[in-house]
Amino acid sequence: MTRRIGILQQKGGVGKTTNTINVAGALAARGLDVLAVDMDPQGYLTHRLGFEDAYLSEPPSLYDALNAPTEHAVGDLVVEHAEFDLLPANVDMFALEQDLIASGMRPRLRLDRILDGATAWDVILVDAPPSLGPLNDNVALATGSLLVPVEADESSRLALNHLLRQLDTLEANYDVHVDIIGVIVSNVSYPLDNEQKDNIEWFSERFEDHVPVWIVRSRAAIKRAVKDGSSVFGDTDEESDMSDVYAEIAEEIDNG
Ligand SMILES: Nc1ncnc2c1ncn2[C@@H]1O[C@H](COP(=O)(O)OP(=O)(O)OP(=O)(O)O)[C@@H](O)[C@H]1O
Ligand SMILES: [Mg+2]
Repeated sequence: MTRRIGILQQKGGVGKTTNTINVAGALAARGLDVLAVDMDPQGYLTHRLGFEDAYLSEPPSLYDALNAPTEHAVGDLVVEHAEFDLLPANVDMFALEQDLIASGMRPRLRLDRILDGATAWDVILVDAPPSLGPLNDNVALATGSLLVPVEADESSRLALNHLLRQLDTLEANYDVHVDIIGVIVSNVSYPLDNEQKDNIEWFSERFEDHVPVWIVRSRAAIKRAVKDGSSVFGDTDEESDMSDVYAEIAEEIDNG
């Protein structure tokens, strides 16, 4: 059984792509076969991992697969990273939100269709774009299981409330369950000020009875590893004490 997990939060810059790379790296370090999927038309995951060529490549790409899910096999679109595989984003995907909205054919279940054929991996992690719209809905419906990155600020609380409302709507309209399997408070700098403390407490009180709330501190080593196209588990000179947190997240996914 291939587990599918979306790393999703419509707010920009909260660590979705950074966490996708490092959770994928941690899962791979456990010996699992991992596919990372870049659903952000801006393609930061694809770029960070060093696949600019794939982002600019001629069709077919993930864009074409999302337009005609039955006509493209994931295996034909995947590129190999040193730690895990990647289904890259493509520059053509900028047209997708409009295409999906204009299309009548269950436009929010396209990614689900595509991933039905992706059975060669133990875990599929999908990096979602920073918007609430059909692309994000595709990620939520295709995975049904979300890791939600937030920052320790007031606007992340607001964003999380918007997201929970959107998930309720999706669940009602599509008769599915979309579970939040964990919250990752990301890029946290210590010492915490009172506002950050309040916000972390709010996330903990809200979620900790049901699912884990992890804290990933702001670390230059994480930033540098990602800039060099690797997780902190990869072949990099960068080591980070935060690899323990990512290893815990991977263990939770593996055991879940
Ligand atoms: N734990 C961390 N330590 C240091 N820097 C971090 C950490 N997490 C995230 N960052 C930095 O924060 C910025 C935003 O992170 P990232 O690109 O992962 O967020 P995102 O949610 O994917 O953004 P977008 O919404 O644009 O897709 C990046 O510059 C990244 O290097
Ligand atoms: Mg991103």
